Amino acid sequence: MTSDAGYSELIEPYNIRLPHTPAVVVIPITTQHVQDAVVCAAQAKLKVQAKSGGHSYANFASGGKDGSMMISLSSFTDVSVDSAGIAKVGGGVRLGNMADALAAQGRALSHGTCPGVGIGGHATHGGYGHTSRNWGLAMDAIGKVDVVLANGTALTCSATQNSEIFWGVRGAADSLAIVTNFYLQTRPAPASVTYFEVQLNGVFNTKQTFTNTFLHLQDFARNASVVDSRISFGIYMDKYGSFSPSGAFFGSVSEFNTKIRPEFLRTLPAATNVIVQSYSWYDYLVKVSGRQTIKVPLTGYDEHDNFFAKSLTVPESSGLTSTALGSMYDHIKRGTSADYFIIVNLYGGPGSAINSKTTDFAAYNDRDSLWVVQNYGSTANSIDFINGLNNAVTSAQPQTQFGAYLNYVDPSLDAATAHRVYYGDAVYARLLRLKQQIDPQSVFWNPHAIGA
Ligand SMILES: Cc1cc2nc3c(=O)[nH]c(=O)nc-3n(C[C@H](O)[C@H](O)[C@H](O)COP(=O)(O)OP(=O)(O)OC[C@H]3O[C@@H](n4cnc5c(N)ncnc54)[C@H](O)[C@@H]3O)c2cc1C
Ligand SMILES: *[C@@H]1O[C@H](CO)[C@@H](O)[C@H](O)[C@H]1NC(C)=O
Ligand SMILES: *[C@@H]1O[C@H](CO)[C@@H](O)[C@H](O)[C@H]1NC(C)=O
Repeated sequence: MTSDAGYSELIEPYNIRLPHTPAVVVIPITTQHVQDAVVCAAQAKLKVQAKSGGHSYANFASGGKDGSMMISLSSFTDVSVDSAGIAKVGGGVRLGNMADALAAQGRALSHGTCPGVGIGGHATHGGYGHTSRNWGLAMDAIGKVDVVLANGTALTCSATQNSEIFWGVRGAADSLAIVTNFYLQTRPAPASVTYFEVQLNGVFNTKQTFTNTFLHLQDFARNASVVDSRISFGIYMDKYGSFSPSGAFFGSVSEFNTKIRPEFLRTLPAATNVIVQSYSWYDYLVKVSGRQTIKVPLTGYDEHDNFFAKSLTVPESSGLTSTALGSMYDHIKRGTSADYFIIVNLYGGPGSAINSKTTDFAAYNDRDSLWVVQNYGSTANSIDFINGLNNAVTSAQPQTQFGAYLNYVDPSLDAATAHRVYYGDAVYARLLRLKQQIDPQSVFWNPHAIGA
């Protein structure tokens, strides 16, 4: 309850810009506790959200409004691997602890880089890393889930058991069920991964330099003579003039340097710094985490930011046009006092495992993007600038249907817009039918919930 010791720490979100005050926080130890909590909430007419890592950009884990029930899965911390390489992962496990436990058994999964992010939100709404063009999204490794439904029933769902719920949970778990355990198909950890990072100089000096640089990287990303599923990268840009592609290659340093690097850098402005280095799987995880360790304490996690972010999924069919890039450049040059960064991650291109699936596989619409763009303003006064960045691109490319990435949930969207940009009409209609069937009272609710 709100007056209890520890309440304020329990509800503290990653994004402190959006504090919400749940009516009650439940910390279940068993599946039966989760079932009882959900039944109790429905009787009391409280809305429910699960909390895994608490990294929702919109703080939906504490309900996305005041007065909800937050069910913290902090005790669901199992990670075990069976002889077929299937990992049972509790719904509250953070990615760093998952990767650490898997690596100890020589196993690996594809997922994002931040160790504190929870598997619960991440894998049920996508889950991208520079391993994803090769191995798919975190979501794509889910073979089975144990869930608790809105009426308190506990079920197991897979492609053959409760398959419609299984489809929906992978994309809209926040609206449909609480996943208590994931069963994930792991892979052998590779002996090594090639990490590469390039800092380019003077990209923002002129509009033409910026546009040509990006368009070359876009041509590269689509060029099957150099790109296959083994490579991925993202481009980091910020207020201070950084323009830095970095990524992973599942091949040797020498293959990267001889086959890929010349085309990658061809025509680009001079690089101040080019790093191409082989890492063991574990050291790669630590490297991309940006921290000393990927292990995360089980209690007392205390990393936060105060931010507003928006995303754009850019269809493979159009990519970004030079007009849109020029418009983005003009907006960047208008500037802001706030700190911000932009990360443009490669999802598509030749051989992408992400785009080899369709919306029949899971309730996840983003299977045809070339890029996913994230515009992230580090302080609250960046909101106009970040909105402007998104608009600069979309208004300059009006014929293109841009979407948004579910894991970068944008609290400024109204529910109807959120449904359209995250799911598209067909996936949303199918989710709505499922929601009406298994949660007609909308027990699982946040401002973007199915049916909201
Ligand atoms: C610093 C940082 C780095 C990031 N890096 C990446 C990245 O590299 N790649 C990437 O793809 N994304 C990345 N993200 C985005 C991240 O994937 C999402 O914010 C993700 O949804 C967070 O999951 P969570 O469990 O920590 O969040 P939570 O806030 O706990 O949950 C998010 C939503 O999922 C629901 N939910 C959580 N657990 C369950 C469950 N077990 N069952 C049902 N519903 C559940 C919650 O109710 C809530 O609606 C990053 C985010 C941050 C803040
Ligand atoms: C693709 O890469 C090859 C090899 O470097 C290069 O010769 C060719 O011009 C590239 N194609 C495009 C469209 O950039
Ligand atoms: C709970 O909901 C599920 C899904 O709608 C349904 O199959 C099941 O019969 C319900 N259980 C009870 C006890 O009502």
